[in-house]
Amino acid sequence: MGRAGCSSTLKRLSPDGNHRNGISMKTSSQYATIITLLITLLAAAAVLLGILADFRYNFLEYAVPAFPAMVGTFLIVQYYFSRFVKQKINPIFKTIRSHALDEQEQSRKAGREDIVKQLDREVQVWTTNKTEEIRKLRQLERYRKDFLGNVSHELKTPIFNIQGYILTLLDGGIKDDHVNRLYLKRAEKSINRLINILEDLDAIGRLESGEFKLQMERFNLVKAVEEVFEDHEMQARKRRIRLGFDSSYNKPVFVMGDRKRIMEAIGNLINNSIKYGKPGGRTTVGFVDTGENILVDITDNGIGIEEENLPRIFERFFRVDKSRSRESGGTGLGLSIVKHVIQAHKQTITVRSKPGKGTSFIFSMDKA
Ligand SMILES: Nc1ncnc2c1ncn2[C@@H]1O[C@H](COP(=O)(O)OP(=O)(O)O)[C@@H](O)[C@H]1O
Ligand SMILES: [Mg+2]
Repeated sequence: MGRAGCSSTLKRLSPDGNHRNGISMKTSSQYATIITLLITLLAAAAVLLGILADFRYNFLEYAVPAFPAMVGTFLIVQYYFSRFVKQKINPIFKTIRSHALDEQEQSRKAGREDIVKQLDREVQVWTTNKTEEIRKLRQLERYRKDFLGNVSHELKTPIFNIQGYILTLLDGGIKDDHVNRLYLKRAEKSINRLINILEDLDAIGRLESGEFKLQMERFNLVKAVEEVFEDHEMQARKRRIRLGFDSSYNKPVFVMGDRKRIMEAIGNLINNSIKYGKPGGRTTVGFVDTGENILVDITDNGIGIEEENLPRIFERFFRVDKSRSRESGGTGLGLSIVKHVIQAHKQTITVRSKPGKGTSFIFSMDKA
């Protein structure tokens, strides 16, 4: 929640101390004076009328003695009326007014408490959000540092190797037919490794920046997996691993997705199943129709992954056995790319594994 939110609430809830909610500030004694003044005016008018009547009808003999009587009556009435006002009316006015003030004070107090509570809530929400933002930024910063460290480390190894092979060749190795072929072959292997790392980094970079757009289309998963099998035939044959479906899929299995990216993800999973599979083993692919979507299951009977490593295998550069992964051309980026591709499709991927028994990767796809 932004600061603007807080200040707008403040403005909205700020009580105006000068307003008394329409209650008059005139006191009851002021009312009594006004009423007494009116009575005096009435009495004066009566006296005036008496004098006029006297001129017209010659009633002087009645009017003169009536005048002090009228004044006397007026004074008596005024005296009793002010007493009545003081004793009866004033306390009533006072009670009413103190009630009204009490209510005002209470509602103002309640208003102030509401503001404090609301502010407190807003500050708490704001603090929680900021703490979360800071945690994410710190995590990103850590990732960035780790990532740069890992990239430079991964690049250094093949570059130094190539440098070593060239220096050996320059030092005379080039004249020895056995040495020069061997070292040139090794240099080529290191160059291929560099290319693999750069391609994977490029893919990750584009996936993470959201730069690439998915080319969504309806396609047959059975056909796509058959193509991936063909691409990995040689690699699988070298390790005597059979690639196949868990049952015969005579009918097409249609899904919605970016065919090229999904094939890339399946390719990575099949590549891993061969690399980390047992010689003479097998990799099977199966589809499960859940009614809502299609689950793609890629299972091998290879070396498996220990439980403590399972949560980390989708991290960039994470490898259970670095030398084994490197030996087979791995960069530790494959599963990270797979996860990004599946997430970009707004789908999920899970892994189940038992060391020595094998591993299953299962991801979902939209039916089409
Ligand atoms: N099918 C599998 N069987 C056993 N271990 C696997 C499997 N797939 C992945 N792994 C483990 O997860 C790690 C990360 O995989 P990945 O990101 O593809 O990197 P790479 O294959 O380049 O090493 C691998 O190094 C390996 O230790
Ligand atoms: Mg891999």
